[in-house]
This record gives sequence, structure tokens and C-alpha cells, in this order.
Amino acid sequence: MKTTFFAYIFLFKILSINAQSVVNKDLVGIKVDSILSLMTLDEKIGQMNQYNGFWDATGPSPDSGEQLKKYESLKKGLVGSMLNVRGVDEISAIQKIAVNQTRLGIPLIFANDVIHGYKTLSPIPIAEAASWDLKEIENSARIAAIESSAAGTNWTFAPMVDISRDPRWGRVMEGAGEDPFLASLIAAARIKGFQGDDLSKHNTVAATAKHFAAYGFSESGRDYNTVDIGDNTLNNIVYPPFISSIEAGVASVMTGFNDLDGIPVTGNSDIIKGILRDKWGFEGVVISDWGSVREMIPHGFAKNADNAAELAIKAGTDIDMESNIYVRKLKKLINDKIIDEKLIDQSVRKILRLKFDLGLFDDPFKYLDKEREKKVLNSPEIQNTVLQMAKKSIVLLKNSNSLLPLKKENLKIALIGPLANDKNSPLGNWRTNSDNNTAVSVLEGMSKYDGNEIIYEKGANLILNSDGVVKFSEKIILNQNDKSGFDSARIAAAKSDIAIVVIGEDGFQSGEGRSRSEIAIPGVQLDLLKEIFKVNNKIVLVLMNGRPLDLSWADENIPAILETWQLGTQTGNAIAQVLYGDYNPSGKLPMTFPRSVGQIPIYYNHKSTGRPGPKKVVFWSHFNDIPNTPLYPFGYGLSYTRFKYSNLSIDKKLMNVKQTINVSVLLENIGKLKGREVVQLYIKDKFGSTTRPVKELKGFKLIDLEPGEKRRVDFKISEPMLRFYNAKKNWESEQGVFEIFIGSDSNADLKETFELIR
Ligand code: NOJ
Repeated sequence: MKTTFFAYIFLFKILSINAQSVVNKDLVGIKVDSILSLMTLDEKIGQMNQYNGFWDATGPSPDSGEQLKKYESLKKGLVGSMLNVRGVDEISAIQKIAVNQTRLGIPLIFANDVIHGYKTLSPIPIAEAASWDLKEIENSARIAAIESSAAGTNWTFAPMVDISRDPRWGRVMEGAGEDPFLASLIAAARIKGFQGDDLSKHNTVAATAKHFAAYGFSESGRDYNTVDIGDNTLNNIVYPPFISSIEAGVASVMTGFNDLDGIPVTGNSDIIKGILRDKWGFEGVVISDWGSVREMIPHGFAKNADNAAELAIKAGTDIDMESNIYVRKLKKLINDKIIDEKLIDQSVRKILRLKFDLGLFDDPFKYLDKEREKKVLNSPEIQNTVLQMAKKSIVLLKNSNSLLPLKKENLKIALIGPLANDKNSPLGNWRTNSDNNTAVSVLEGMSKYDGNEIIYEKGANLILNSDGVVKFSEKIILNQNDKSGFDSARIAAAKSDIAIVVIGEDGFQSGEGRSRSEIAIPGVQLDLLKEIFKVNNKIVLVLMNGRPLDLSWADENIPAILETWQLGTQTGNAIAQVLYGDYNPSGKLPMTFPRSVGQIPIYYNHKSTGRPGPKKVVFWSHFNDIPNTPLYPFGYGLSYTRFKYSNLSIDKKLMNVKQTINVSVLLENIGKLKGREVVQLYIKDKFGSTTRPVKELKGFKLIDLEPGEKRRVDFKISEPMLRFYNAKKNWESEQGVFEIFIGSDSNADLKETFELIR
């Protein structure tokens, strides 16, 4: 106790060092160094140790020795941050121990995976990406920060900025899709939303760009699997969103579980030290993924826990999340002179600095205000922001004969499907602290429009439990073949003017560890759809899913299809407003939808190959049984109105590196409704020192037009937009001919050309 008192006086002096006494010096740096000089080696290593929550309402959960050990470590100052502790009460109780009972009273940071909201859930990240609306995405992250910080969280493990081209990978739901340009802008918007303009404010949280690097490229989309991609893809596709995150000031970066070219990334000094730190100048905290320090052993890379600690710290991983290896092994490695204590100091400095940036040294309890927590969680303002985001995330995939929007009166509607009145699945995976069954269901949302008659039939079951606590072994194969609900569904559809069929994936069918070997609509749901089609072909298919699915049959037969992903708490309200035309859908796919699983990986910015075809003979790069083209391309999405693109014009055909080119297109709303179009600019670099993609997204604009309204939409092309990681391993442009395409998706074919000269 005595020691604590003296340490406190000392800490107090350090914290009150003021700017005048250290003119021209980094004030926080000085404070950090002073604290560091007070710390024992054990305490320093403790800062590099992150534990998962172990707290019941009033203290450490009694049921496990491990928990008690964690509690003891906490009191000894051997823990620097915690994850998965939620709510003001629990966080306050633990923070009090750190501040009042440890020798130096250094506050903890409390982290959570606030991926798409805390209590109120926004659409899953891939859905938000489909809005292409950076401002709305930033707002969504902002309210997630406001809500989670009101419940004591200071740090989120988001955004996931991994690019992926494989819908089998369950974590595509957490990212921004396949394109590095769009994903980079979205990463920056999310970070801005989470971190605001000042991390020390009580309503901002530190963000994390994850998972460094290439975790989204696991072979066959099986989570945690080997990654084997070349330098070209790594630099041109995987790295850009990380670079953008760093430019946006992200506070931390998380390493992945995967290996990359034979080296697990958590111990990969070439990429953490070499690229992230030295090349890009990242000065924030690098945290391992859960247990990824330890997992270097089964990877067959680290020989044992000592070696894992050595590899991770030497690579530059500052915090060990839940491996419990740093705290057990680093001291020994220093004593054995295997690593230098300087490495520890480097990491601890970054961690302490983050605590300063978050304002925790000024007031460790600043995020912990019970009244605020009560007022902010689920507030109407937050619900409203989530609703706006949800509407904008919906993508209209098909709308033959303008079946949508629906009339608001005198219709008999059969609302069918296991997801039609589901209040749980639409919440998606990664729920942080939200309660199960709290989404507005489609039935509830539609019932707010009372001019039509709705007959609801469930029709079939989802293949998984829908209580949100599905364990792999409990997969309910049992319900999978149950067609007992088909008859009543068919009868309801037969006597209705129109059927709305709401089917797709369970909310826990995508996400971490939820890879699938096929991407069909699961279970008997497609059979249900086919049965309904036999009695009433006026069908609106409303899909809920966390990944692109194979929709080939539906696309061929069903007149109207809405991709709604998993839209979170406000799902039913958003879908109803779109169905009834109170919001005209404007979303565009951030990821290609294949025709079948055999096309995977399929992505719009692919290379041409030496045999692009099509040819009459067989010897060109193609499948013999299906076209090469996807079912729905990247960037695709319809509106209830129609847009016409014409008059693409360019102000010069020759451009030197200092010049810019103005390119513009005439966009006209030729339909009957007001609508929003995402005008997309793609560029093709015709020849390069390495092969170049057939097209790359380089710009987009969201344009709102009244019926009959026309507008010229302009873009500026400058040399930096043409740079890529080339054969010289430099990020630079190369002179030559470029093609420009502008249009409504990645099939855009209005074309111009120009030449870049030096
Ligand atoms: C494992 C996941 O891969 C990572 O994204 C997440 O942040 C951590 N678990 C913590 O929950």
C-alpha cells in the first residue's frame, strides 16, 4: 500500500509535467518515458499482455482456476488491456483494481469487437459497403463509437480491411468486399467515424485495421487456412486499405492468424517491421490476433512458447492477445539474452502512449458514466442513423416489369419464408452486446403499412438454430429436409396477388470460422421458392445473407430480387420502406456474385490471360459448362428508376505526369421516380511492366436526380491514380495508353482513351 502511495505521488508529478517546461519536446513522449523508468520489467511485460474478460457481476468468475490467476495477475500489474468486458459496472470494477490496487496505478484499456454496432446493430460491414456512401458509413461507425464508449469501451477491433475474393470465406461479411480502392475509402471512413477528431474525447474509440496481412486470401476460403499469394497481389490488392488506414490515423493494427508465403504473419518481421513500421511509418500499437502468438507453434514455425514469444516480439507485435505467452516468457528471454529489453520498452511506449491518447491517464474513469450509458444505448438518434444506413445498404438485383415498388393499398400479400418474421438472424454475426431477437422483422416492418392484407407463412426452417448460440456440433440437420410447411405456404401464395419470399442464411452462418464449401441458398429454401413459383410467379425474393450466394435459378425465374444482407436492428423497417418505394434502392455490389462455386475466385479486376477469348475453338481460358462472366458483377445494382449514360468526353488525349485530365459523362434519369445513381469510373492500363487488371475502379460519385433531370458528372484523372506496384517493385505509373470507362457497374462500356507521357 505504501509503495502504491509513493508511486502515485510520482505518477502525479509525471502527469502534471506541463508544456512550458518542455518547450519543443514531445510532452506525451516525456511522460511516457518517465512512467517507463518507474516500471519493473514484469510490469512492462504486463502492459503487453491482453486478457479476455473473466469477470462476473461482482468479481472474477468463481468457476475456473484460470480466472483467479488472471485476477491475481491483474492486481500485480501484469495486465495492460482487456477485451470482452462490457458495461460501465464491470469495467469500473476492474479499472478500480488497476488504478487503486496495482503498484503504479496504470489504467487498463478496454477493447471490444464493435464491428457493426454495440447494443444497436447497424448492417453488417459488407452490407454497409454496398451503399458506397462514405458519409453514411462514417456516421454508422460514429454512432457505434458513441454507443460503445458510453458503455465503457475505449478500443474497437474494427475495421476489418481484408480484401477477399472468395465468398466461401465466412468473414467476407466483415469486410468491404473485393476492391482495394473502395475498401480503402471505406476503411478511412470507418476509422474517422470510430476515432473522431480527438481520441481523448469520451465518445470516441481507438480503431484497429485488421488482419495484417492477407488473411482474406485463405486457400479455398477455409478460415485460418494457408495463404499463398505473390508480391504483386499483396502490394496492389491487399496492402492499399492498410495504407489508407494508416493515413487516416488508425491507432492500432492487428496481425492475422494466417501464414503468408510460409511465415505466420504474427511473427513476420518482413511485413510488420519492414513494411508496416519502416516503409509506411506506422507508430501505433500492433496487437496479435487471439492466440496467434501461440498458434505459430501448430503452424510448425515456432518450436515452443519461448520461441513463439521471441519471434513475435522481434517481428514487432506489441501486445499478445490471450496467448498468455509474453507474460510467461519474455522475462526469461531477456535474462537469457535472447532478446534485448529495448524491444520491450519500444512496445510499452506505444501502449502507454495509446493510454495517454485515450485520455485514460487524465481520468481512467472518463468513459464510465452510468447515466450516460443509460441515456445513449439504443437511443432514438442511434436507431435513426442505423435505419438510414440500412436502407442505403440494400441492392436491387432484378425488377422485371417494375414489379417493385409495391402498391400501398388493396394488395393481398403472401409473406413467406423462415426469415420473414425472424428477429434474430438479421442481426448478423458479431453482436457485441446486443440482445438476441431485437431486430425489427420484415413482417413487423411491413405491418406498419396497413393498406394491404398480409398472410404470413414460415414455410421452412433455416438449417441452423436461430437462437444465436449455435455450436458446430449442434448444427440442426434435423430441420434441413423438413418440408411440412410447404403446403400452407403454397396455399397462401396461390390466393395472394404477390408473394414476398424472405430466405437466405442464418445470422451465424457467416463470420469467423463459418466458411462454407458451397454458396447455395441453404437447406430446403430454394425448393420452397420453386414450389411457390409454381402457384404464383409474381414473387419478390428478399435475400438475407452474409456473403454472395449462387442465385442462378432465382435470377432466371424470379421477377424481383432484393439483396438485403443482414441489416441489423432496423432490418424490417428498412426493407418495408424499400419494398413500398419510400426509399428507392441505390446500393451496388461490393463483391462479385458468381454463377456457381466453381468460378471462385471471381472478381472484376482480374488479369486478361494470354488467351482471353472468346474463340470458336476450345483452347482459350474458359469453362466448358458455364460462361466466364459472373451472375452479377461488382458495382451492380438497379434502381426503381432508370439512368441513361451518354456523351462521355475527355479534355485531352495526351497527359504528362503533372497534368490532369477532365472526363465527364451525361447522366439522365429517364424513369418516373427520383433516384440515386453511383456513377463509377474505371481505368485500364493497357500494357505494364507486370500484367494489369482488365479494369480498376478509380472513382465514383453518388448522384441524386429527379425524373427527367440530367447532369454532367465530372472526374479528374491525375498521374497518382495510375500508379501501381510494378516490376521494379516501386509504386509508380508507367507511360502508355489507358482506357477510361464510366457507367453503372464494372461492365461499364462507355469508353475513351488517353496516353500518359513523361
Ligand atoms: C479473433 C478474430 O479473428 C479477431 O478479428 C477478433 O478481433 C479477435 N478474435 C477478438 O475477438
